[in-house]
Amino acid sequence: MKHVLVSGGTSTLGKAVCSRFIAEGAMVYCGYSSGEQKAQELVRQLGSSLVPVRLDVTDQASIDDVASKIQSLDVLVNNSGVFSVFSVEELQTEEIQRIFDINVTGLMRVTKRMAPFLQASKGSIINVASINAFHPGFGGTVHYDASKGAVVSYTMSLARELAPLVRVNAVAPGLLEAPYLDETNPLRKLYEQRALLGCLVDADQVSLAVQFLSRCTAMTAQVITIDAGYLAG
Ligand SMILES: NC(=O)c1ccc[n+]([C@@H]2O[C@H](COP(=O)([O-])OP(=O)(O)OC[C@H]3O[C@@H](n4cnc5c(N)ncnc54)[C@H](OP(=O)(O)O)[C@@H]3O)[C@@H](O)[C@H]2O)c1
Repeated sequence: MKHVLVSGGTSTLGKAVCSRFIAEGAMVYCGYSSGEQKAQELVRQLGSSLVPVRLDVTDQASIDDVASKIQSLDVLVNNSGVFSVFSVEELQTEEIQRIFDINVTGLMRVTKRMAPFLQASKGSIINVASINAFHPGFGGTVHYDASKGAVVSYTMSLARELAPLVRVNAVAPGLLEAPYLDETNPLRKLYEQRALLGCLVDADQVSLAVQFLSRCTAMTAQVITIDAGYLAG
């Protein structure tokens, strides 16, 4: 049986990724930081092959604790990520550090700790970047955009370091469908106007790309963009 660890497993995208790997018969460790209740709810929905584990990517002890609970690992999905909006003038160093500690350093901490399991299983890593790594966003996100740029370059470098045993790839989603983005939301309108397909991105479609990267043994050091044609628009 395949063993998968998803950080931020109860997030919009995390849930879709957990659900897809459960459907293929995997055992999925669903990492949560503050969302224990959401993780328990997900177990009720997806069944006992989903194992909630407390995983705060800023806390080495919590990462070590997860490592002590898992016997093997085939796929690591580094999905945890946070976002905020501040103009360059308002942006404080503490906020830059918070975003980088979760989106970049946290991802690197988890990867370093889990790498021996993945080397043993000849497994793979899928990092969650963003189209913001490649375009300027809607404003006020220089810190987030830079953090996702770092995820992309980390993916390339790590793929080289861990080859040939472990494959390392990334997905770069566009704006994900979420309840807060209702029909009147100006962000939705801006996104839909530019995206060639005229819509936001369903998390389930991103999870399809994550699953594909976990299976396609000829791919490493790649980033797949899933953005409904936003970047090309
Ligand atoms: N939403 C979008 O439009 C979009 C677009 C492109 C890329 N992405 C990327 O896709 C990924 C998932 O996004 P999302 O929108 O699905 O997330 P989300 O719903 O906003 O949830 C954020 C997730 O990050 C986790 N997290 C926060 N602090 C953490 C910490 N210290 N340690 C571990 N986990 C932590 C949260 O866990 P708890 O709730 O348990 O604290 C939660 O699962 C992120 O990397 C994001 O940058 C999102």
